[in-house]
Amino acid sequence: MRAPGQLMSSWSALLCALGVLFSLFSFGFAVKENDFKKCHQSGFCKRNRDYADKAVAQGSSWQAPYKILPTEASFKDGLFQATILKTIDEEGTTVELPLTVAFHKSGTARVTVDEKRRQEKNIELRHSSQARKERYNEAEKWAIVGGTTVDVDAKTSYVGETGIKIQYGPDSTFEASINYNPYSIEFKRDGSAQLKLNDRGLMNLEHWRPKVEKPPAPEKKEGEENAEDKKEEPAPEPVGEDESTWWDESFGGNTDSKPRGPESVALDITFFGYEHVYGIPEHAGPLSLKETRGGDGAYTEPYRLYNSDVFEYILDSPMTLYGAIPLMQAHRKDSTVAVFWLNAAETWIDITKAKESKNPLSLGKGPKTNTQTHWISEAGMMDLFVFLGPTPRDVTKAYGELTGTTAMPQEFSIGYHQCRWNYVSDDDVKEVDRKFDRYQIPYDVIWLDIEYTDEKKYFTWDNDMFKDPISMGQQLDAHGRKLVVIIDPHIKNTGSYPVIDELKSNGLAIKNKDGKDFDGWCWPGSSMWVDCFNPAAIEWWKSLFKYDKFKGTMENTWLWNDMNEPSVFNGPEVTMPKDNLHYGSWEHRDVHNINGLTFHNATYQALLSRKKGELRRPFVLTRSFYSGSQRISAMWTGDNQASWEHLGAAIPMILNQGISGFPFAGADVGGFFGNPEAELQSRWYQAGAFYPFFRGHAHIDARRREPYLLAEPYRNIVTSALRLRYSLLPSWYTAFYQAHQDGSPIIRPMYWTHPSNEGGFAIDNQFFVGSTGILVKPVVEQGKTTEDVYIPDDEVYYNYFTYQRLPTAKGQTLTVDAPIESIPMFMRGGHIFPRRDTPRRSAQLMKFDDYTLVVVIGKDGTAEGQLYTDDGDSFDYQKGEYIHRTFKLEGSKLTSTDADGRDPKSIKGGSWLKNMRNVAVDKIVIIGAPTSWADKKEVRLEAGGKQSTVKLEYFKGDASRGPFAIVGRVGASIGADWAIEFA
Ligand SMILES: *[C@@H]1O[C@H](CO)[C@@H](O)[C@H](O)[C@H]1NC(C)=O
Repeated sequence: MRAPGQLMSSWSALLCALGVLFSLFSFGFAVKENDFKKCHQSGFCKRNRDYADKAVAQGSSWQAPYKILPTEASFKDGLFQATILKTIDEEGTTVELPLTVAFHKSGTARVTVDEKRRQEKNIELRHSSQARKERYNEAEKWAIVGGTTVDVDAKTSYVGETGIKIQYGPDSTFEASINYNPYSIEFKRDGSAQLKLNDRGLMNLEHWRPKVEKPPAPEKKEGEENAEDKKEEPAPEPVGEDESTWWDESFGGNTDSKPRGPESVALDITFFGYEHVYGIPEHAGPLSLKETRGGDGAYTEPYRLYNSDVFEYILDSPMTLYGAIPLMQAHRKDSTVAVFWLNAAETWIDITKAKESKNPLSLGKGPKTNTQTHWISEAGMMDLFVFLGPTPRDVTKAYGELTGTTAMPQEFSIGYHQCRWNYVSDDDVKEVDRKFDRYQIPYDVIWLDIEYTDEKKYFTWDNDMFKDPISMGQQLDAHGRKLVVIIDPHIKNTGSYPVIDELKSNGLAIKNKDGKDFDGWCWPGSSMWVDCFNPAAIEWWKSLFKYDKFKGTMENTWLWNDMNEPSVFNGPEVTMPKDNLHYGSWEHRDVHNINGLTFHNATYQALLSRKKGELRRPFVLTRSFYSGSQRISAMWTGDNQASWEHLGAAIPMILNQGISGFPFAGADVGGFFGNPEAELQSRWYQAGAFYPFFRGHAHIDARRREPYLLAEPYRNIVTSALRLRYSLLPSWYTAFYQAHQDGSPIIRPMYWTHPSNEGGFAIDNQFFVGSTGILVKPVVEQGKTTEDVYIPDDEVYYNYFTYQRLPTAKGQTLTVDAPIESIPMFMRGGHIFPRRDTPRRSAQLMKFDDYTLVVVIGKDGTAEGQLYTDDGDSFDYQKGEYIHRTFKLEGSKLTSTDADGRDPKSIKGGSWLKNMRNVAVDKIVIIGAPTSWADKKEVRLEAGGKQSTVKLEYFKGDASRGPFAIVGRVGASIGADWAIEFA
């Protein structure tokens, strides 16, 4: 979190003041926007946009200067290798860019372009820099975990002077058509073009060149830069290339020394016939990404990925936020394809949509829209993966194979988390804990922000305020509750603090451009940053978390990693200078977007090794993230505000995380900055109850707002939302398991669940929960008493609370009642989902409660669903200690069978599984039960080879309730096979 205006150095305060002045006169509220670069202030972005403009202006006479010599190309065992020649002057001088296209068994293709001269370290660095000479090629080390086995069955269907065609993927239905001059690659599926690299010829890889010294330009005066930014006149026509930002560039008083000169990589990618693109989090904007080069409703800036501590962030903006996942999906009716741009440097992405001129042969059909994208990164190799779908599920699955899927969570971590900056003492924590109990409000975790430490020295406690952290932990533990404490990557640079001494003496800090320990400003004042790219730093970090080292922590203490972009208060754009050096002599520029991941990875590793023999799933929350973070952490959307707009903005952001492989996501409930009024807070809990990560949080200046402080009826409304979350924990846990298995989102947008239903493609304010068929449309506007919900198919839908059937309305928007005490929540026919209906204080205390099954009969009379459960804590599930059931209603029979087809006798179990033998299906609620059951009093149950009868109650329905039936006191063990016959 950030405190506005706190601890700023004088220059940034001055800049802030200037920003305020500007904003008063011209920009309204966009103060903080000016702390961060626009494309034209980022040299390589401007150069590449200019390059694109030049290409577009020249139209068909534009000649892309990249080609492959057919004699230099080869294809063997699933690998295409060639050298791309870039022509760099009129004389035809070329530089060599090695190209590899790898075709993987998983159906993805990977295109990698490097630069020979830098590969061979045959360049000179300026300013006697100690940086590496190569282009950064280790992003995969952090992001990629599988899916790269090469498909040796990939084969050519054409080899000629002009190019090569390679068939690969399932039944060879995918094709890559590599064109030699100019270089481009078109990807087809079933013979039809899906996407093309370098379609518009905007590829640009800035090759190494020596600096040619020119007579110095007249010096700029202080402040001139800012004045320049404001000018609206177009820049003068560039003569030749714009070299002004090749060798150094300044922003906000910081100068980047750029020892390797210009080195950006850029490529355009066109998606044919695709009107919607999704992904590339993290941004606060709609799920369906907007155009970025002006026009109606479009942005004028590209989407930016440069992990930053952007506090008071702006909504509906392509501005960068805290994390980066460079995965973009393109979607049209019945087809999804995607591109994953594996690059860790600052990246900008322009998006435009172009209507193709009408094809006279496409009878009746309107002209197709192509989405054109332009990817621009400051440094590194050009390295990207192409996914050809054809479904959103195929894309998320293949991306999950590459970068890993979400970890199985600690079960408590899908309950409710209570946080604020700050609970001021151990007594305060104990009191909050007691109050939750007094008001019978469930929660699982209470959090401590930075103030628990002694002067922001991590791994210490403020001994005056936290006299006895262990007794605090023990009180929480009595009801199965946990404590999360914050540990940030900046280490206070001060005397008599062993952590900083060890960091320095072991040489584990990030270095400045001169190779000295980098010193910057953060919460503790002067600080240094642990460099978790360094394996030795991870080992050291692990040592700090041992219970006997980090005194005051115990088995129920877990971790929060904040500020890991990293946030540096006096650094350029509130982060590190790009010419800082990391382990392996990589510049910070090369690795910036991965930095956050390396830090929460180190913390994850540390939690695995707190005590010998203790092997439990770590819980780590991170603010900064990259592709792969999902394997080891949860994230939240950072410092939002207590406003209705922020409540609304959170849903598309969390949906975007879900489709981008990192579904364990949430937003600060109630809003971090400001004080939500009771209605807003209530609506926020109703929405938050459907965030995969559900945490209330508040700024230090915000008033106390624990749910029990609310006046009625709001306290009751919030308590109901929390209990609803807790009753559905078995379904949430099952959804996490599915995400863990195949990368699927935990809350799912309409395009993902209904890829054929065009009406849903732009809808990003309602979602399904896992595969439960539960459809939710949270209310995010003040004073609303009705809500519009879009129905994506012609299944039957029921109100979750009243069981009343909605009018059938495929493709229509229904208006439903949504007074403050209700959540628009529906059940889709054809699904079965599990619940636990006894309210308790925490998830842990529900562990061995009996289950309720809700069967929602579909149009065709059937229903199906799953339950997955395990001990929620250890890794024993990997050895088979779990329960995974499929429930099916077919004809008149409802069955429970092992979802993985295991023989129950073959499952070796420990104590958890033994306890689960006594956990039963207690109640089955059947929504849409046929009227033919009306006279039934009992049904036959077959379980464990024995027949018995159980009671059935049928409710006809009335004005306030739809018809349903309840089978009561079933008593069948949840892990065992059973069947109920309704006939
Ligand atoms: C995390 O750290 C461990 C070292 O303890 C390392 O083996 C692993 O590759 C790192 N990265 C990720 C993304 O897990």
